[in-house]
Order: sequence, then structure tokens, then C-alpha cells
Amino acid sequence: MPSTRRCKNSSLQHSLLAALFLSNICTAASVPSSHSARPFSARTVYSNRDVHWGPPTKRDNAIPLVISNNCGDTIWPALASQAGTGPGTGGFALSSGDSKSMTVSSDWQGRVWGRTNCSFNVGGTGPSNLNGNNGNGQACDTGDCNGVLSCVVTGNTPVTLWEVDLAGGSDGKQTYYDISLVDGYNLPIGVTYIPGSNTALEDIPPNLTNCACIGTPGFLTTVADSGTSGNSTNGTYPLPYEASQTDSTLSGWCPWDYQLTQPTKPGDGVYPYPDDNIQRPVFDPCLSACAKTNSAKDCCTGAYDQPSKCKPSLYSTQAKAVCPDAYSYAYDDTTSTFIIPTGGGWEVTFCPAGRSTNILKTFGTQLTQLAQTGQISKSILTDASNITLITQKSEASSGATGENSKFGGVGSRSLGALVVCVAWAVFW
Ligand SMILES: *[C@@H]1O[C@H](CO)[C@@H](O)[C@H](O)[C@H]1NC(C)=O
Ligand SMILES: *[C@@H]1O[C@H](CO)[C@@H](O)[C@H](O)[C@H]1NC(C)=O
Ligand SMILES: *[C@@H]1O[C@H](CO)[C@@H](O)[C@H](O)[C@H]1NC(C)=O
Ligand SMILES: *[C@@H]1O[C@H](CO)[C@@H](O)[C@H](O)[C@H]1NC(C)=O
Ligand SMILES: *[C@@H]1O[C@H](CO)[C@@H](O)[C@H](O)[C@H]1NC(C)=O
Repeated sequence: MPSTRRCKNSSLQHSLLAALFLSNICTAASVPSSHSARPFSARTVYSNRDVHWGPPTKRDNAIPLVISNNCGDTIWPALASQAGTGPGTGGFALSSGDSKSMTVSSDWQGRVWGRTNCSFNVGGTGPSNLNGNNGNGQACDTGDCNGVLSCVVTGNTPVTLWEVDLAGGSDGKQTYYDISLVDGYNLPIGVTYIPGSNTALEDIPPNLTNCACIGTPGFLTTVADSGTSGNSTNGTYPLPYEASQTDSTLSGWCPWDYQLTQPTKPGDGVYPYPDDNIQRPVFDPCLSACAKTNSAKDCCTGAYDQPSKCKPSLYSTQAKAVCPDAYSYAYDDTTSTFIIPTGGGWEVTFCPAGRSTNILKTFGTQLTQLAQTGQISKSILTDASNITLITQKSEASSGATGENSKFGGVGSRSLGALVVCVAWAVFW
């Protein structure tokens, strides 16, 4: 799964290499995302920004970045900066129920992921001896970054990622962000917009911005009529959510071979048990197709480096069904990236309660208008509180379940997604 090719593709890796002289980062242990350079680095014009470790000074126009742990266990969130000034840390331990408030510069571009099952030495400079490797190797079961507490490279796959460019678009005045399953899935992630100084955006309905991806059983709230279930929203602005998944479907969405740790099949796998009947662990990290096979076809590289040539795999189809607002493969752009005017900050919550959101397919048109005008109009507000509209759109978009109906052609994509796509073409 690790690959030097992917290291080459990652501008983050390059920046870090240059900045830190870590010439051997691109070795086995660190596996940066293949796609993640695409939405932000490769296509953002305004991207020649230096990377600083941080934290930002006042002059940098600091933006709040809060990371919260709603999981039952301690997790070790990690961050990597691709541009701008980072929060001054690459990762830390976060107990269940705790939050850490940080700041980044207003032109920060980076990513956040969660590490699990970590055990570091006292200084955090390497794994503890508990892993049996005498201080070498990985400190964490998932998301590990060369075994250190404060990451300077991106994490091992599989990880659920939150990616953001606070100064995206051709003029740097858009915030681009996404939840990505392109590097696989480990923990549920939810994102909450923190209103900033841009008064035009104070009223942005949270249900337009606060996406969530919940692919682990045990976190789903029951479906409420108005979409009010879920922590990343409130009763005034109900969220468009994914309504069909259950704890049972979530426990089996990862294609069997892509589980990071495949449960032992009864009888040593000699008997042809249908995979679906074998109990999987609740925490069941899932490699993406690209991370698993590293093939051009699954990673959308080489001969497949075009949207028309790179099609979603079984993994992407399953991932998209579980998390409609998340990236499932490299060319999943139209239903995976949020673009809003700059200004606000962000809270990233691991293991949010609620449901996966289905915002982009529901409010694509409104979000495009917002991205273009930089204003929340009356009609956006009206639409955002129109439960009939939300319910209809959500039902319409979750009705298409098969791979072909969902991804087969332009005709099956929602209009909103197409509009977003066109808007992007204009921005870039
Ligand atoms: C690994 O971490 C996950 C997520 O925090 C947790 O559910 C699981 O119990 C941990 N496994 C072990 C063996 O500690
Ligand atoms: C999340 O929402 C559920 C109900 O949907 C609620 O019971 C729970 O307390 C909320 N959690 C947080 C951290 O707000
Ligand atoms: C919901 O969020 C909006 C925007 O943040 C806020 O104005 C409103 O008061 C909130 N409603 C409730 C019931 O908390
Ligand atoms: C967002 O919240 C607004 C205000 O309550 C509501 O009208 C609208 O239906 C919500 N949109 C979605 C997609 O839930
Ligand atoms: C709410 O949305 C429905 C369906 O799109 C539409 O028919 C209705 O007029 C809208 N209501 C308001 C108050 O905008």
C-alpha cells in the first residue's frame, strides 16, 4: 500500500520535504493521499503560499480551528499543513469528550485526521515499547505518521480526512473543504462552521456547511422527520441527511478484502462462508481501493488520469452510499467539495452523533449561488428552512442506489452537482 509514486504526487509531501529536510519520508511507513493534492493544490491558482509550522501571530489574522473527540476512547488527532501557518502542532492526545482549540492563519491549507490505538514513548518521539518493536515502527494502529506524536508527514492509510483550503479559488476568497474517504475510512468525522467576522456570513445556515460522515455502527441517531437529528445542526436549520443506513448496514459496507484487519473466517476460511455473515469488529478501518491495490485504475493515475476514464470502484460506490457528502475516489469532485466565502473557522468532531449528511445533492444550487455572490440571500435562507424541499431532494438523491444509476452518467447526477461543477470551471 505505501508507494513512492504517491509521495511524488503530493505537494504537501514536497513542501514538508523541502522545509524539514526529511529526505527519507517517502519510505514505507508514510502514505500520503493520492487524490488530496488534486482538489486544492493542483487546481487552486492561489497556491504559492509558504508553509509555516505556527501557531499564527495576530498579524496572520488567526482563524479558529477546534478539534473535538466525541468517541468513547482517547484518540490522537493529527494535522498536516500544505500552505499558510499551521496551529503549531502536528498532533496530540485527546481524551473522550475533550476539545482542543487552536488557530491557523487565514490562508491555511491543510488536513486533519484521527489516529487510533496509539502508544507513544514519554517524549512522544516514537512508539512505546508496547508494540514490541523496541521503539521502532508504528505507534498507532491507524493514521500513524512515522511513529511520532506530533506528525510532520501525513498519516498511514486508512484514514478519514478533513481537508480545507481557507484561501481557495482564483482570488483566495473562497473556503474549500471536504471530508475524504479517498485514503480509506477509520473514524466518523463531522464538521461545524464557526461564524467569523464576515457579517455577510453570520447567518449562514449550518445545514449548508456542516457535513458529517458516519460509517461506523453505534453513532447513528434515528431518522427524524425534519432532519433535526444530528449534532452538527440545530432545530432551526435541519440538516439534509442520509436516511437509509442502519447500524447493521454500516457494519458491513467495507468490501471484505479492504478491511485493514480481516476477521478470521471460521474453519480458517476453508469453508465457503458468505462474507456478510461473519461478525466484524465495530471499529473496522477500511482501506480505499487506491490504498489497497495502488493500481492506476483505482488511483485515477496514468491512463486513468481523467474523469471520463476513472470510474468509481466497488469501494467508492459503497463509501458514497454511506457518506454522500464525502469524496469516495479522486474524480468525485462534483458531489464532494464544499465552497463557501472565506471568514469563518471550523470545528472538526470525531465520532459526532447524528447521521451522514447529504447536503451537496440537496443544496447544490444554493451553495453555488453562495459561492458566486458571497452573500446569503433571502431565497437561500428560505430554501434552507424549507423542510419539504429538503425532504424531497434527499429522497430523490438517495433513491438512486445502484452504481450505474448513481454514477453512470451525467443524467443521473443532481442538477445541483452539475451547477457546482460548472461554477468550478469558472472559478478555475
Ligand atoms: C482501537 O481504537 C478504536 C477506536 O478508538 C477502539 O474502538 C478499539 O477498541 C481500539 N482497539 C484496541 C485493541 O484497543
Ligand atoms: C448529539 O445529538 C444527540 C441527539 O441527536 C444528543 O442526544 C447528544 O447529546 C448530542 N451530543 C452532543 C455532543 O451534542
Ligand atoms: C441554530 O443555528 C443558528 C445559526 O448558528 C442560530 O442562529 C440559531 O439560534 C440556532 N437555533 C437553535 C434552536 O439553537
Ligand atoms: C436548513 O435550515 C433551514 C432553516 O431551518 C431549513 O428551512 C432548510 O430546510 C434546511 N435545509 C436542509 C437541507 O435541511
Ligand atoms: C418549499 O419547497 C417546496 C418544494 O420545492 C415548494 O413547493 C414550496 O413552495 C417551498 N415553500 C416555500 C415557503 O418556499
